[in-house]
Amino acid sequence: MDLKGKVVVVTGGARGIGREICLGAAAEGARVVAADINLAGAEATCRQVQKTGQQGLALQVDVSSERDAKAMADAAIQKFGRIDALVNNAAYFYGLKMQPFSDVDPDEWDRVMAVNVKGTWQCTKAVFPYMKKEGKGKVVNISSSTFFDGIVGFPHYVASKGAIIALTRALAKELGEFHVNVNSVAPGYTDTEAQFTMHAPEFSNVIAKDRAIKRPEVPQDVVGAVVFLCSDQSDFITGQTVLVDGGLSLH
Ligand code: NAI
Repeated sequence: MDLKGKVVVVTGGARGIGREICLGAAAEGARVVAADINLAGAEATCRQVQKTGQQGLALQVDVSSERDAKAMADAAIQKFGRIDALVNNAAYFYGLKMQPFSDVDPDEWDRVMAVNVKGTWQCTKAVFPYMKKEGKGKVVNISSSTFFDGIVGFPHYVASKGAIIALTRALAKELGEFHVNVNSVAPGYTDTEAQFTMHAPEFSNVIAKDRAIKRPEVPQDVVGAVVFLCSDQSDFITGQTVLVDGGLSLH
């Protein structure tokens, strides 16, 4: 899965799954843009990217801002001259409280949609002109197995992750004629700092028992599918969602 010479932009690249995607792409030869609302975290990711021998660019970006999304794409072009892949990984997930659906705060509902859904749309919109010019591009949207399982407790988040699958399918059809592939990767319950704001770390072992592959999922588990979908090896795959959950949703 060679990404040599490619430039991969990863939103939410400051920690967790996004950071591992940055490192995984760099390990395959890509130059990486870590774009995050948390600049210090994005810079820390880039220092790790540089240790692999690749170049990294850290940018402070709020994906819910159209201006930031555009500035992200422009800065990536200014630094590296091209954008081959965009991984829409940033999400409002950290710190969400499990609660009955009618108790969800309307402002929180709007923010989840603004970051997770509108942010994915806006970042794709911002990079698309450059991909169109190159005659090729890859967009990978991070969804979640919660959509397939209908997990109870954060309906806005689950709805946003379902919307990402819908958006993936719609954009795949629209952008195919420009040779821009749009796919989605849906991780299962993954051990990250964000997940631990909702559940005790031990809960991961409880979930592991329900998997076909009976172990906790870690951020590195998500990287292979994302890198594949950013690479030339997936040139004829579009509109698809790959569940990377060790068989958690196979019931
Ligand atoms: P996380 O909360 O650790 O990482 C999300 C990153 O996005 C953070 O670095 C955060 O600063 C950044 N971010 C948040 N709002 C932003 C904004 N408005 N603009 C730019 N950056 C922003 O979460 P984690 O666990 O690493 O999740 C990464 C992705 O994987 C998310 O899309 C999440 O929904 C998805 N996912 C996570 C699962 C898990 O169990 N950890 C399971 C399924 C999907």
